[in-house]
Amino acid sequence: MKILFVCLGNICRSPLAEGLFQWHAQQQGLADRFTVDSCGTNGLHNGELPDTRTRKNALSHGLQLEHRSRQIQQQDFAEFDRILVMDEQNVTTVKNLCPEAFRYKIHKMRELDPIAPHADVQDPWYGGEEGFETTFQTLDRCAKAWLFHLVSNVDN
Ligand code: 4NP
Repeated sequence: MKILFVCLGNICRSPLAEGLFQWHAQQQGLADRFTVDSCGTNGLHNGELPDTRTRKNALSHGLQLEHRSRQIQQQDFAEFDRILVMDEQNVTTVKNLCPEAFRYKIHKMRELDPIAPHADVQDPWYGGEEGFETTFQTLDRCAKAWLFHLVSNVDN
């Protein structure tokens, strides 16, 4: 199964979501069942590593992020089985780009969050260090929830 994580710039939220999902899949011995990637809707940071603050925070939890930012492209909609998007603004952008036949693949990252189902994953870009830790905790929880959901549902 191929999972694509999407945010605005692909340097804070979605590369972390990708890394956390991959990490949990490895921990559960499920890594061979998933291919993960991430991208942004705006392309402003194409080719860049994740934001220094995101990488520092992830590393403090033992997670090294090496993804290079890229913009979403048309072939992603056919290629990926699930497209997990960080917030409502980007859901709108992604839905507008996506052919109707593939729109069912698009979900919000926090759809399965027991704490705040369907909430946005807030963009930590403009705030302080604590925002990056909150983002980490939110994405860690949701990555685990999605992994559990995707491996538990035969008909997913
Ligand atoms: P992200 O955060 O969408 O979580 O990667 C952002 C980082 C940079 C910008 C926007 C969002 N930017 O426009 O520069």
